[in-house]
Amino acid sequence: MTSPRRCVCPGSYDPVTLGHSDVIRRAAGLYDEVVVAVMHNPAKRGTFTPEERRDLIVDTCADLDNVRVELFAGRLLVDVARELEATAIVKGLRGGTDFAYELPMALMNRHLTGIETVFLPGDPSLEHISSSLVKEVAAHGGDISGLVSDRVRDALLARLQGE
Ligand code: PNS
Repeated sequence: MTSPRRCVCPGSYDPVTLGHSDVIRRAAGLYDEVVVAVMHNPAKRGTFTPEERRDLIVDTCADLDNVRVELFAGRLLVDVARELEATAIVKGLRGGTDFAYELPMALMNRHLTGIETVFLPGDPSLEHISSSLVKEVAAHGGDISGLVSDRVRDALLARLQGE
């Protein structure tokens, strides 16, 4: 029996957006298994704790049975990918700015262990969505429906109101 083709979808996911979940969903159609790796820097405080980020991704991707979500603190992505026996890193690209940010990381990761990064073109209808813009819009009272799941929207509004 051949071993499953597994990819890793890394990110900060603070919080997961509909752009992220579109990429995860499409990766789940291309690979036997997808590990969504919540990569967090223990020295940096995010809007959500790593555990909260994981739970929000699990909720957003609940219908995908070949996707699991794991937390990795202060680790190099290539070490995580090796430990997971992932054959590729999968990332979404929203445009030229993303490409400029992602290309050096993809090349560095390939330099370190030979692992390839597979870029999926972002869905044009989701291209304007990022975790940071969603948080900014929400912080100023804007409507973030259609940018994140309802559960993420409610969690973010609760967080901004100091719960
Ligand atoms: O969602 P983000 O913040 O764009 O994701 C960036 C992330 C977490 C994938 C990247 O910063 C990363 O891989 N961090 C882990 C540490 C590491 O491997 N750094 C070297 C990258 S070449």
